[in-house]
Amino acid sequence: MADAFIEKAGRDWMTALARIGSESRRYGKPVVEGVLTRMVGLTLEAAGCQAPIGARCDVVNSVGERVETEVVGFSGGSLYLMPTSEVHGLVPNARVIPTRHGSDVLVGPELLGRVIDGRGRPLDDKGPLRARNKIALQGKEINPLARTPIREELDVGVRAINALCPIGRGQRMGLFAGSGVGKSVLLGMMTRYTEADIVVVGLIGERGREVKEFVQEILGEQGLQKAVVVAAPADSSPLMRIHGAMQATSIAEYFRDQGKNVLLLMDSLTRFAQAQREIALAIGEPPATKGYPPSVFARLPQLVERAGNGAQNSGSITAFYTVLVEGDDHADPIADAARAILDGHILLSRQLAETGVYPAIDIEASISRLTPQITTPEHMGMTQNFRGLYSLYQQNRDLISVGAYQPGTDPAIDRAVRMHPQIIDFIRQDMNQSVDFDDSRDQLAQVLSQTGDEDQPQVVDALLAQDLKQGEG
Ligand SMILES: Nc1ncnc2c1ncn2[C@@H]1O[C@H](COP(=O)(O)OP(=O)(O)OP(=O)(O)O)[C@@H](O)[C@H]1O
Ligand SMILES: [Mg+2]
Repeated sequence: MADAFIEKAGRDWMTALARIGSESRRYGKPVVEGVLTRMVGLTLEAAGCQAPIGARCDVVNSVGERVETEVVGFSGGSLYLMPTSEVHGLVPNARVIPTRHGSDVLVGPELLGRVIDGRGRPLDDKGPLRARNKIALQGKEINPLARTPIREELDVGVRAINALCPIGRGQRMGLFAGSGVGKSVLLGMMTRYTEADIVVVGLIGERGREVKEFVQEILGEQGLQKAVVVAAPADSSPLMRIHGAMQATSIAEYFRDQGKNVLLLMDSLTRFAQAQREIALAIGEPPATKGYPPSVFARLPQLVERAGNGAQNSGSITAFYTVLVEGDDHADPIADAARAILDGHILLSRQLAETGVYPAIDIEASISRLTPQITTPEHMGMTQNFRGLYSLYQQNRDLISVGAYQPGTDPAIDRAVRMHPQIIDFIRQDMNQSVDFDDSRDQLAQVLSQTGDEDQPQVVDALLAQDLKQGEG
């Protein structure tokens, strides 16, 4: 009797304990709060709490509002935090409450046509976002051996790129240019005219005014329909600029994993690097190359490597990253690092832009490392011929323009001089006009068919004389 009683009491006790156990799991571990001990510039120091790098902490300000921050480093018992939003009303010993680990991005087809900020909140007036799927801001690694190789070209709708610097699906390109030479317009053209299924645009660290201009004037309704714009302009916190770039990449990854061909346009990679520099210097990392701490050069490939082809049966992310280069400063460490990690670059030339040639693509200095894999040998040959004509002219430009070159001295130069107007016309493309891949190649063949046959110099001379006469008239 007594045994039965003890057995029942024991069973009840175990059930009660199990219930308490499962209830307590629902509430999770208790949160250990800390206090704010120091604030210098945008860096906050907190003591007394523990949270891993990348976790979120809320700091309670003097009027009881929460300022969201992220853990960016630690030293001894202190955590270094950076705000992800506006900071105001912080006081010494303010409460610091760790909230959650890591950051997620909300994704879904609902994102199409929307403009969001670095935290994923809508900036347009199209109501709240209804995307439900969550993916990690940091992305997930792809085994390099599992990636499908780049074999197919992607039509970007720009003749000079399609014909002379063809881009493969899954390729990562740099768009190198100084300020005001037409990067934004060129990115806009690609957004509107590309055959990619989805375009994700990251506007990182550029002027705030330009966001509206890009969305309304350069993209327009047509461009926006299959695009997602993530904007983290210059006045947003450095952390938000980093997050903006990572978020755009996460969104591109989501669509790639749905089997779509995605075009990711990031303007600009330089501003992303500068945001990382601000953070790293603020938490005490020593500057190395031209004021950039080493972590900047670690961050760049982390971001860029996320683009590219996925594993079998997934889609692709073809990416363009703009890189600012001023004058002929090829020693710029960011431009150098970018050149090394990207699969090619397109250079916009100020000299062409100044003479009114848009898009101002310097075909001599632009290369796509995957041209042999994605084009036919005939197309490759035409590309090389065209480049040859262009660079021959460029090399002798000074002589030609001062009249020091005597026509007839060198048939190859004569040909380059004669072909120059057609070559420039080929590069030039109105921003409201699209040229698809096949047309680009056909037009290239057509231009080259006008070069004349070098075995018949008299024909060349005749044409040259005619040209010169026309020039005088
Ligand atoms: N395809 C084009 N056709 C005609 N004009 C163009 C074209 N591309 C660029 N432009 C002219 O060049 C100007 C600057 O272009 P854009 O704003 O794209 O330069 P950017 O390199 O993005 O400049 P920033 O460095 O200031 O961001 C435009 O306002 C426009 O007048
Ligand atoms: Mg611009």
